Amino acid sequence: MHSYVQIENAGMVFSTKKGKFTALTDINLTVAEGEFISLIGHSGCGKSTLLNLIAGLTDATEGVLLLANKEIKGPGPERAVVFQNHSLLPWLNAFENVHLAVERVFGAREGRSQLKARTQAALDLVGLSHAAARLPGEISGGMKQRVGIARALAMEPKVLLMDEPFGALDALTRAHLQDELMKIVAATRSTVVMVTHDVDEAVLLSDRIVMMTNGPAATIGDILSIDLPRPRDRLALAHDPAYHALRSRVLEFLYSRQMRPREAA
Ligand SMILES: Nc1ncnc2c1ncn2[C@@H]1O[C@H](COP(=O)(O)OP(=O)(O)O)[C@@H](O)[C@H]1O
Ligand SMILES: [Mg+2]
Repeated sequence: MHSYVQIENAGMVFSTKKGKFTALTDINLTVAEGEFISLIGHSGCGKSTLLNLIAGLTDATEGVLLLANKEIKGPGPERAVVFQNHSLLPWLNAFENVHLAVERVFGAREGRSQLKARTQAALDLVGLSHAAARLPGEISGGMKQRVGIARALAMEPKVLLMDEPFGALDALTRAHLQDELMKIVAATRSTVVMVTHDVDEAVLLSDRIVMMTNGPAATIGDILSIDLPRPRDRLALAHDPAYHALRSRVLEFLYSRQMRPREAA
């Protein structure tokens, strides 16, 4: 495997009404093709900001980001994003929201029936075929999030970027989609960068967990390799001492950087 996403000395300084705010500093990270990376850290440390830099939705104010040795300049169809707040178009139903992305990526090469089949398959995958005709305003938050996931997966992206994709889901749906995601990623060999604050999710899914320090001027504090063999089975892992050891490592990192009340205020 070779390096696919390369982040070199990246930093992000926002200009705000109150002056400059340094969100990220000295971010150095290389992601291999087919690797599954989780970004974990306390709320507000800059996880979404870093994901947006890779997505090309914001430009880094320092350093450089490369995808397959080319500088990242703006978004591209090879990078699909699942946003924290689903970001569906409210006037399109679930099917149409997914279809729009499918059309954009495959429309030049494929006919109408193929595009429809792709859309349908993606909705099936997240268990939403029955809600295809419903508008975002007519479905639950969890369902909206699943449409957002279907939309991203339907694009068959080389890099899947996900910002707390399962955060709003109930535990069973979440577990089901995590399992599906592992199968899809194994089949498609997609490269994934996922933001999460769920330690179990990070250990279950990742090849490496990137642990971020608290902001302002957040950076990468430590990187933990998750060398558990694949395919991974959540029930078997529940009894695996290696799993619990890794889980503890992440928890220790997070607890050692807990915000003191004065800093949190
Ligand atoms: N557009 C922006 N302008 C100013 N500050 C921002 C902007 N986006 C994010 N920030 C700040 O940068 C920090 C990191 O934000 P974010 O990446 O959303 O954190 P996380 O996703 O880890 O919760 C926060 O302090 C946030 O307030
Ligand atoms: Mg965030």
